[in-house]
Amino acid sequence: MKADVLLGLQWGDEGKGKIVDVLTPKYDIIARFQGGPNAGHTLEFNGIKHVLRTIPSGIFHEKAVNIIGNGVVIDPVVLIAEIEALIKMGVDVKAKLLFSKKAHLILPTHRLLDAASETAKGKEKIGSTLKGIGPTYMDKTGRNGIRIGDISAANFKTKYDSLVEKHKHILHQFNYEYNLSEMEPEWFKAIEELKKYQHIESEHYINDAIKNGKAVLCEGAQGSLLDIDFGSYPFVTSSNTICAGACTGLGLAPNNIGSVYGIFKAYCTRVGSGPFPTELHDTIGDNIRNNGREFGSVTGRPRRCGWLDLPALKYAVMINGVTELMMMKADVLSELDTIKICTHYIVDGKKLDYLPYDVVTKEIAPVYTELKGWKSDLTKINVLTDLPKELFTYIEFIEKEVKTPISLVSVGPDRTQTLIRHLKAVV
Ligand code: GDP
Ligand code: IMO
Ligand code: MG
Repeated sequence: MKADVLLGLQWGDEGKGKIVDVLTPKYDIIARFQGGPNAGHTLEFNGIKHVLRTIPSGIFHEKAVNIIGNGVVIDPVVLIAEIEALIKMGVDVKAKLLFSKKAHLILPTHRLLDAASETAKGKEKIGSTLKGIGPTYMDKTGRNGIRIGDISAANFKTKYDSLVEKHKHILHQFNYEYNLSEMEPEWFKAIEELKKYQHIESEHYINDAIKNGKAVLCEGAQGSLLDIDFGSYPFVTSSNTICAGACTGLGLAPNNIGSVYGIFKAYCTRVGSGPFPTELHDTIGDNIRNNGREFGSVTGRPRRCGWLDLPALKYAVMINGVTELMMMKADVLSELDTIKICTHYIVDGKKLDYLPYDVVTKEIAPVYTELKGWKSDLTKINVLTDLPKELFTYIEFIEKEVKTPISLVSVGPDRTQTLIRHLKAVV
């Protein structure tokens, strides 16, 4: 059986956590393949709202094994806090959570470096979540990183000291003030806790599972437009958020990938800096932010809101080989009389139907088609055919433009507020 991949097609926060949770009963293994505690994946069920950062979103289900893959970067302090919160809720984390030995560790100094780098950038800052993500991936590719598999080795502390020494030199160059001794005790305490969990060679585990007919769902973090290669560089995160990231972040061969579920909101949001062609700076944008509770689940920052951007969506569908789309948060647009969709851009006086290389520097004027709003509450609808016809028009317009089916429509944050159209997989 091939592994399916679920990932975000926009700038993150599309609702990946909710859908992984909805799909988990049909899978044996849920595996996160990149990112780290910069992610915040929200699940709502039985009146509980829970935000996961590093732990895969299948953790609340009885059966599924959850794997943190080699492509993920782990902050032990954040992770142990996450685990403790789950244990309090009665989740048997020890039995169900496995770590790749090859996943890299976020050190306290990585967080300091993130903050120092952003401060030095001033107005040009990326708008990082300041969780140490960029510096940790830099040490990984620079071949200086420390991995989960190192924490039980005799030379772990020596490795740590040597890397911290390097970081101190850089922090000195940034002229950045810090108090490392305040951060280290909780970090080492969390490392001790981490030792109690199962550290495995997850690429073998996952490939064996696939051979034995187990169903695997790979969970992405962030979104395709934040991808280090294909996002709006440099306003991106530091990992491959796209489908290929599931291959490198878990040790999956490309021919072992089955369905690719692309999650997108019925509009767009972005948190942090960087280009956003369809951004709204008016009361409609405020209305979407308030109705959609568009405030970062990690940093609490207000998310920038705008209309759905089809050139960007088509680009993400192409890069990821999306087989099925899932549209989230249509309910948030319910108050609007008309809804705009960007079909192409005007750049340098010319029509363009894709995101250009110089998206960061060029003026990009979106061109819209306007559709009639559905003006009705969707949140209590539990039969697909009860959805208003204007919403079907919206859905079909997108499907035609993007040439990919929308298999699932989400009409609220809760597990139950999910309408399946024609999902190939399983449900
Ligand atoms: P993720 O990072 O992709 O998992 O998404 P986040 O959890 O950061 O952000 C999505 C937010 O939208 C969360 O607060 C979810 O509870 C919420 N959400 C998910 N699906 C829907 C939906 O269909 N309608 C509404 N109104 N909220 C939703
Ligand atoms: P989930 O998985 C939305 C954004 C940050 C910043 C940029 C770089 O919840 O969708 P980083 O901390 O990675 O150096 O920040 O990327 N960003 C996210 N935006 N959702 C996320 O994750 C994000 N993770 C990072 O706001 O603009
Ligand atoms: Mg999020």
